Amino acid sequence: MNAFPQTIHFIGSNTPRRMEISVRDLEVEGEIPAEVNGAFFRAVPDNAHPPMFEDDIALNADGMVARFDIRNGAADFDIRYVGTDRYKAEKEARRALFGRYRNPFTDDPSVAGMDRTVANTTPVWHAGRLFMTKEDGLGHEINPHTLETVGKWDYNGALKSETFTAHPRIDPETGELFFFGYEAGGLCDPNVAYCIADKDGNLVSEQWFEQPYLSTIHDFVITEKYAIWPIFPTTADLERIKAGGAHWAHHQDMESWLGIMPRYGKVEEMKWIRGPKGVSVFHEVNAYDDGDLVHIDMCITDTNAFSFMREAGGIDIPQQEVKGSLVRWTVDMSKDEPAIEQHELGPPGDLPRLADANQGRAYRRAWYLSMNPQGGPPMLGGPVGANFNCLLRIEPGNRRIDMMGLPPGAAISEPAHVPSGEAGHDGWLLSVVDMPNNPDPSQQVPGDYSSELWVIDAGNVGAGPVAKVKTKLPLRSQVHGTWVSRAKLDTSVLKG
Ligand SMILES: [Fe+2]
Repeated sequence: MNAFPQTIHFIGSNTPRRMEISVRDLEVEGEIPAEVNGAFFRAVPDNAHPPMFEDDIALNADGMVARFDIRNGAADFDIRYVGTDRYKAEKEARRALFGRYRNPFTDDPSVAGMDRTVANTTPVWHAGRLFMTKEDGLGHEINPHTLETVGKWDYNGALKSETFTAHPRIDPETGELFFFGYEAGGLCDPNVAYCIADKDGNLVSEQWFEQPYLSTIHDFVITEKYAIWPIFPTTADLERIKAGGAHWAHHQDMESWLGIMPRYGKVEEMKWIRGPKGVSVFHEVNAYDDGDLVHIDMCITDTNAFSFMREAGGIDIPQQEVKGSLVRWTVDMSKDEPAIEQHELGPPGDLPRLADANQGRAYRRAWYLSMNPQGGPPMLGGPVGANFNCLLRIEPGNRRIDMMGLPPGAAISEPAHVPSGEAGHDGWLLSVVDMPNNPDPSQQVPGDYSSELWVIDAGNVGAGPVAKVKTKLPLRSQVHGTWVSRAKLDTSVLKG
């Protein structure tokens, strides 16, 4: 194949753009607050070549690292491919050599045994280094000033796990990085590696444990006392993969689980708690201790939100009929056999953002993306095929919700949070919004839009943006992003 398929994974905001560009001094409408000073790094999957298979999916695309660099109210934009083994091999061959999503048995024989990761999910900053991550491989270190790829990061050979999550958690007081890798020993290995790196980036702990079944563990949470793995019934099967099938299939009839252990303890201390059947979560907002109680807040759906994972499990539920909500799971750790109590906190949605300082602690507010039913049909694209069209700010304590809607047909990406130096100020949110070039919904053409970076008062999202940074380009959908302050950039290990 030498053309891109015209499926949901390659149209709308999933239209391949494939541009490595740098633009200085983007147009700014409004005023960027002076304290927004640093870099917003974004992970953008974007196929460098048409895929080998017509039914390929957006999650299988090469990782690009994008950056809005902001200072003194001005913004520059850069985007580069991550130099994975896979990207370099395909660039040399001028065509796709790697086949289906997380299935090495569908690859061109010339790349047998080669690292397949595309590093396309989350930029992670820790101990002065920037990494591009995807859960099926090691993180790739990126020079934060040049966006050049330095190489794979295995803690100078200390890390035994072959994988590194796209959702590690950093304790705001100790500066430690808590992370894990599932399929730690290779394809379909049931082991999970649980690791801690200290504030200086040294790997100080790595322990392996076996999960109840071979599931996709996309995210996890920490509290001041515990490390917690919520596990949902989307499972891998080596025989299916060997036959050329899907890596993941969801199962409505299987139970979910919570694995909870003291965060500085031994994996042998893990308590496994049974949860409801068939549900699915990709992102937790936060978790915290409340005496003996542990609260875990997360974006839950009644089945898997990805159609290709439902289809592989024989589940016939159209995307618009997937139900979900923001929920809190509470467990009482003083009990020998704790049970899960579930309470609803807010409407359906995903891509939550928490202030870094609130990680693992009781928190007053957080933000996530949702669908505004009054906002018209969503823009096609994004990982699940339909983009979110509103931003919510929620106070879990009193369930107060504020919303920032978008014009019809526009799409919003996961926000980054910039803390404010002003006491009592909620800080700022940065979010890329894709604006259709034609405001008339009946005339809009998929893929015809301009991407803008909106700067929003995080305490007053309903007021809309205080500034819009205009790229004048249609950027491909981002997955996750991260904010890195100027102070951190200035003390980075690698220099420009
Ligand atoms: Fe994620």
